[in-house]
Amino acid sequence: MCGIIGFTGNLQAPGILVDGLQQLEYRGYDSAGIAVNNGSETKIVKTTGKVATLREKVEATADLAGTCGIGHTRWATHGGVTEVNAHPHVSGNVTLIHNGIIENYKELAASLKTKGFTAISETDTEVAAMLIDSLYDGDPFAALKEADQMLEGAYGFCVMFKDHPGEIYCMRNASPLVASHTEDGSFIASDMVALLKYTKDYFVVPEEHIVVMKADSITLYTMDGGVEEPKMLHVDWDTTAAQKGGYDFFMQKEIYDQPEALHNTIMPRIHNGHADFSADNISDDIFKGVNRVIVTACGTAWHAGLVGRHLIEAMIRIPVTVELASEFRYMNPILDEHTLVVVITQSGETADSLAALRLANERGAKTISIVNVKGSSIARESDYVLYTHAGPEIAVASTKAFSVQCAGMYLIALKLAEVNNLMTDEQMKDFCDKFEQAIGTVEEVLKMDDYIKGISEKIKDTFSAFYLGRGLDYGIACEACLKLKEISYVNAEAYCAGELKHGTISLITEGVPIIAIATQENVLPKLMANVEEVKARGAHVIVVTDKDMSNYEGIYDDLIQVPATDDLFATFASTVALQLLAYHVTVFRGYDVDQPRNLAKSVTVE
Ligand code: F6R
Repeated sequence: MCGIIGFTGNLQAPGILVDGLQQLEYRGYDSAGIAVNNGSETKIVKTTGKVATLREKVEATADLAGTCGIGHTRWATHGGVTEVNAHPHVSGNVTLIHNGIIENYKELAASLKTKGFTAISETDTEVAAMLIDSLYDGDPFAALKEADQMLEGAYGFCVMFKDHPGEIYCMRNASPLVASHTEDGSFIASDMVALLKYTKDYFVVPEEHIVVMKADSITLYTMDGGVEEPKMLHVDWDTTAAQKGGYDFFMQKEIYDQPEALHNTIMPRIHNGHADFSADNISDDIFKGVNRVIVTACGTAWHAGLVGRHLIEAMIRIPVTVELASEFRYMNPILDEHTLVVVITQSGETADSLAALRLANERGAKTISIVNVKGSSIARESDYVLYTHAGPEIAVASTKAFSVQCAGMYLIALKLAEVNNLMTDEQMKDFCDKFEQAIGTVEEVLKMDDYIKGISEKIKDTFSAFYLGRGLDYGIACEACLKLKEISYVNAEAYCAGELKHGTISLITEGVPIIAIATQENVLPKLMANVEEVKARGAHVIVVTDKDMSNYEGIYDDLIQVPATDDLFATFASTVALQLLAYHVTVFRGYDVDQPRNLAKSVTVE
């Protein structure tokens, strides 16, 4: 949801900014721009399109040199995709980039107009630039602080003031910013992946703080001007983790990263048949006496919640509801100290999920988040955080993050069982063994890549597709369906298999792909009966299963036979098979797998 970067130091800024934007492109790729100051003047280069286009334009711009600059890659919110609307925006003394949304920009623009400020773009960001400029009388800090009181919405800003060359002023209320200082200078960005080339040490800029960047220093201030010692963090992955490493797309690489991501997430937390969260500093108290679990999340992460619900209810009989964070936040939910609210999020910055967490905190629930990005807002504001160790996920379509989020739910289920004496030692040991074995099933599925590619080719030209599942498989169907539609633009729907005949079956015509996930023994005959109904109407049926299908020959056209596991652990293998299917369909259709249209990875607006 827009990527921003800033640098001031003793290296040339243009290359650092454009390289950083390339890494941040997953956050938005409608348009991009940089502003570079050479000590006396600031030059701006911006363009519609991707960072590659910006790079060409930057390379073709004569005299674009300077050791201080800011850069932005945009996911349009206010105003269309035009060069004028691209950041940086300038107003008088101020050159600014912004990630977020200014909600009261219309009111501010109207009042600024009476003071002679007229915008040339359609963006909320330009209004913020004008506002800060209108408040500026030589003291950047004072202008930002006053603007902070007048602006409503979400923002992370980097601002250069004309008469403060070599300095960058950054302010955060909601949108994420991480910063670092090295012997090369001071860096700031929306995400650490943009800075990895220069440092692995960084701090997360806390909300309602200002950072002043100079070549030889970086200072974190509270809004009242107090200096605060930043809380340093260290990334434990290196630059190769944020590169394609020989794969055609990040999504492909991230699908292949899954055995390692699962291993890193699961193995340190299971010891001798028990869930061990001691290294995470998660107290058992949070699980004690829980009589209800509410999972809240968005998109893919919400699907991990569906999987978790099935697991927890089936295994330990604690009721679970799974709420879309965008609904939960306005729901007036009934929560108390016996309710465990689990927030699942890769980025840790999704605006709706953060609002849902804040509501749960306010209402006195116990909160734990399953988060991939260290130090992110949701991680910091939850009572406890269970980090997933997937490493950076760059492709917009989530793959490895989903698998480890599911793994996080399995770990929480085990811990709930243990703390509340809901499973015997023997059952827990069995759970841990099966959990560990599930990682191996993912490795096996990856070996089926070419076979799955062959099936993908058969359905690549379809207009629509349906995913069917029952029980645990319904969560997998939802996620697999989202994968296909978001990257391949196939019009796909996921259904509980028994529901199809209540309306949607009218859409099944000759050749429409039906992808049925059939890993749950207790509903297998029922599911296959539903599949038979669509087969009879001409559907092209693909079954993903770990079961013996010899009784069902003739009902399906293609079979993806994944390694057999206990039904409750079937999540991982079928998920990966269906990620590969979506990936290959998209490649066959010729689309950009990593950067599907209209999307951005981290949705920091409501
Ligand atoms: C889809 C996808 C999104 C995210 C959703 C929540 O592939 O990635 O649906 O899952 O935007 O994002 P996080 O997990 O960062 O809260």
